[in-house]
Amino acid sequence: MDPIVDLDFIDNRTPEQAAAAASCDTKVTAETNTGKTRKLYIESYGCQMNFSDSEIVSSIMHEQGFDTTAQIEHADVVFLNTCSIREKAETTVRNRLGQINYFKKKKPEMVIGILGCMAERLKKSLLEEEKIVDLVVGPDAYRDLPNLINEVDGGQKAVNVLLSREETYADINPIRLNSNGVSAFISIMRGCDNMCSFCVVPFTRGRERSRDAHSIVKEAEALVAQGYKEVTLLGQNVDSYKWASEDGTEQVNFAQLLEMVAKLSPMLRVRFSTSHPKDITDEVLYTMKKYDNICKYIHLPAQSGNSRVLELMSRTYDRAWYLNRVDAIRAILGEECGISSDMIAGFCTETEEEHQDTLSLMDYVQYDYSYMFFYSERPGTLAARKLVDDIPLEVKKRRLAEIIEKQRECSLNRNKLDVGKVHRVLVENFSKKSDQQLSGRNDQNKVVIFDKKHYKKGDYVNVLVNDCSVGTLFGEAVD
Ligand code: SAH
Ligand code: SF4
Ligand code: F3S
Repeated sequence: MDPIVDLDFIDNRTPEQAAAAASCDTKVTAETNTGKTRKLYIESYGCQMNFSDSEIVSSIMHEQGFDTTAQIEHADVVFLNTCSIREKAETTVRNRLGQINYFKKKKPEMVIGILGCMAERLKKSLLEEEKIVDLVVGPDAYRDLPNLINEVDGGQKAVNVLLSREETYADINPIRLNSNGVSAFISIMRGCDNMCSFCVVPFTRGRERSRDAHSIVKEAEALVAQGYKEVTLLGQNVDSYKWASEDGTEQVNFAQLLEMVAKLSPMLRVRFSTSHPKDITDEVLYTMKKYDNICKYIHLPAQSGNSRVLELMSRTYDRAWYLNRVDAIRAILGEECGISSDMIAGFCTETEEEHQDTLSLMDYVQYDYSYMFFYSERPGTLAARKLVDDIPLEVKKRRLAEIIEKQRECSLNRNKLDVGKVHRVLVENFSKKSDQQLSGRNDQNKVVIFDKKHYKKGDYVNVLVNDCSVGTLFGEAVD
């Protein structure tokens, strides 16, 4: 997988082309055809939590008489499940609404709904700002969709952006929309209590709450029964997962939950995301070590390598703490454990020396890959209220380019270490370039491409890696 970067792109497609094709970091619903009378089209933006929520929304809408469609022009209802994390994420959605207007003009009865984080952040003002929107629904209000759709059917606009302290949608059986039938996401918690000063998520997703451990295990069990080979447990901060039964007799932390899921089947790979450096425990690392089917890969966002900047970011750890956690990963799980990060370039008041600390942290950790962004001020956050967004855009972009360049170096170093070794690869699909080749991922979440031979999607294949690029390993299946 190539590192995801937050650089602008120029859209020079015709309105028809642009309206028909969602942008590259967007997921569109797959087609379901169960004889329902109305059609729903959903596009999801942002993080995996949002993609996972779209599967919950589809399930709720299915009960209400909707099949999903992958073609917007066939839709009676169009939902954009939106992200607010950076300004550009919101601009993308607004541009997309402009394109969708093209379809609405042809089919005026088409209902347009904004779901997710942008709905929560902007609330009913979205209805005034974007005239084509009929429906605004926040991440904790999806159970109310049937009522809201009824209101819209009755000719009104509808809004529900109430956040909840309890909602986890534990009992809703998601409709797997974009799944390759091999790997699926399971939300284990919602919201975030961390209040990092740059981040809008606590405002858009509300307080942190953990889902009933047994409902998570049941969902994983059902996936195994359907032939899935990999689950990813999702939360903004999985290490603070904590669930207790109502009578308090049973308590489950994240390490214990991981173990419960890993025990379901040795053939089921278990992944998780995201780990917060302040919370990841040695208990989690030892649980990972104990089970071969828990993938040796940790997404451990640093955000910055400088302690003063980390403090301004309210990350509640400093550089030394972060490096201690990395050392613990290396000591317990070894050099081969994959580690990835998120980095923000040009946070408020960051000096050149402090930026250099981020680069030197990357040198030390040798991340397998990173998601890299320049700082984008978000209204209402602590940073927006208390700090000055004083790094000029060109400086932010230059620092980001240096971080990206450093990551390319690290990725290539790490990938070179994989050459000459046999990797267990779970096949997910054909390679993008040829249907004579398969694409899968190894334990460390790296994409591995190899000749198909007699192998197929869903197989575990031992692949001898003989070459690599910055983003991919190449090899040959060995029996
Ligand atoms: N819960 C995860 C992060 C979720 S948001 C964690 O704590 O690591 C995903 C990433 O977006 C963050 O890690 C951060 O790198 C980036 N991000 C969040 N807010 C941002 C902002 N205002 N500007 C730029 N990047 C931001
Ligand atoms: Fe945002 Fe911080 Fe929560 Fe991650 S941990 S979602 S960065 S507030
Ligand atoms: Fe975006 Fe909301 Fe996820 S702001 S990153 S979709 S939690």
